[in-house]
Amino acid sequence: ALERTFSIIKPDAVRRNLIGKIIAKFEENGLRPVAMKKIHMTREQAEGFYAVHKERPFFTELVEQMIASPVVVQVLEGENAIARNREIMGATNPANADEGTIRKEFALSVGENSVHGSDAPETAREEIKFFFTDDEIVG
Ligand code: CMP
Repeated sequence: ALERTFSIIKPDAVRRNLIGKIIAKFEENGLRPVAMKKIHMTREQAEGFYAVHKERPFFTELVEQMIASPVVVQVLEGENAIARNREIMGATNPANADEGTIRKEFALSVGENSVHGSDAPETAREEIKFFFTDDEIVG
């Protein structure tokens, strides 16, 4: 089915001028950006967005990394966009990521892993709403 998913190009990738290369991977694999913006997340935004990880030992480091410098947030649309995006990204830990995936090619570590993507339809809806209003999504 045609789906929408939420994506972040994380600070480590934006700093290394990889925005274009990462968006090319999405487009080459059937995902079209239907909304995008470059933002510098506030601490409150990062803590809210990652609230599900609040009790994890890496939470503080995760928030610090996400607010260190700007990110690109996007809504990606395509057939099975949620699962497809996860395939294109590769495993969370780049050490486990398959050849040809974004994280295999670009990620530095499990924390600085270049991209975030929604893991399920419900989280995709919530994450899209967290950063975008309906009128910012342009099909
Ligand atoms: P992301 O998809 O953005 O969701 C949570 C993030 O926490 C994850 O990608 C990783 O970048 C980060 N993280 C840092 N350490 C860990 C860890 N040990 N296990 C899982 N995620 C981690």
